[in-house]
Amino acid sequence: MSATLSDRLRAHFGHRDHLYGVLLAEMADDWDGGGVTRELFEGWEDAEPRQVPQLRALAGLFRILLRGDAPQLAPFYASIGGDADPEEAWAAVRPLIAAHVDELREALAEAPQTNEPARTVALLVGVSEAVRRTGLRRVRLLEPGASAGLGLLVDRYRFVGDGWSAGPGNAALVVDGCGAAGFVPEPFEVVWRRGCDVAPVDASSEDGATYLRSFVWPWMLERHGRLDGALATLREEPVVVDRARAAEWVERQLAEPVADDVLTVVWHSVTRMYWPPEETREMTAAIDAARARMPLAHVAMEAPWGVGGAAPAAAPPHQQIELDGEVLGTCAHHGPPVELTGR
Ligand SMILES: C[S@@+](CC[C@H](N)C(=O)[O-])C[C@H]1O[C@@H](n2cnc3c(N)ncnc32)[C@H](O)[C@@H]1O
Repeated sequence: MSATLSDRLRAHFGHRDHLYGVLLAEMADDWDGGGVTRELFEGWEDAEPRQVPQLRALAGLFRILLRGDAPQLAPFYASIGGDADPEEAWAAVRPLIAAHVDELREALAEAPQTNEPARTVALLVGVSEAVRRTGLRRVRLLEPGASAGLGLLVDRYRFVGDGWSAGPGNAALVVDGCGAAGFVPEPFEVVWRRGCDVAPVDASSEDGATYLRSFVWPWMLERHGRLDGALATLREEPVVVDRARAAEWVERQLAEPVADDVLTVVWHSVTRMYWPPEETREMTAAIDAARARMPLAHVAMEAPWGVGGAAPAAAPPHQQIELDGEVLGTCAHHGPPVELTGR
């Protein structure tokens, strides 16, 4: 017999050690008991597990709190200062679901979308190596799968690793714990930056910023802190993220003329696994064709799976940092720490 929705809610975390573990266990009991959770997930009973409707619902709930319409939840959300016992949260959440069930059902249509600015440590590693190899320090940065474009602000963040640091001393975002002993960051200047995404988020707007934040689990304070720093940086340096698919957009960008002393860097992180195989092949072909016309580096922080192969159901053990297909090192899913190859 296949698992019921309540089995899947219960098994998602499999414990009650944090807020979402408690809420999903309570939702499972409520679903079994024919409560409001049935209405919330009606039509989603047989959703594929990877669609994680439960996380979509929790993000929708978080958004109601973040926009100020559920102050009774604030004590349970650590990212906004709450420290109440998660075991007490369901009594506040259940009536809220009932009051906002239509909105929460709409939230089920929104696939979780994050933008992790600390992943730019992988870009820093890749760009530094590309600068060393080409001698070019003026960079045109292009990012497919950019989400809100926070990964385009690499030169505006500060990074601190084992025995090295890089970036402005007054940066609003300091990414520490970067590891990478022996790494030598190279100075470079971003002269042009632009991204694309099939579902870009305008994080310069209040709604866009709230949307991004709602997918970051509330007790992950370091990630929330980094998002705060990156959003503050974005307010100073707005970026453009076009609504477009990766391959056709990269090809179009690479057709634009560029000065001889500019290094074009195509960079992407944790997006390739979502692309159909032909998208990856077409983008790679566009990059390879452009190499004859301009100095170009392809930097990626992606799962260590063969391109076009089926992605395993489990999360990868680490992400790989690639420069033109060469593996420079590995890093954690959200960036730091980095371990350089051969060190
Ligand atoms: C997990 S997020 C990573 C976002 C960002 N690169 C980061 O590392 O924080 C994956 C992103 O890829 C985008 N995406 C998925 N398929 C895409 C495609 N074919 N072309 C462009 N973007 C795509 C999604 O909309 C989403 O914003």
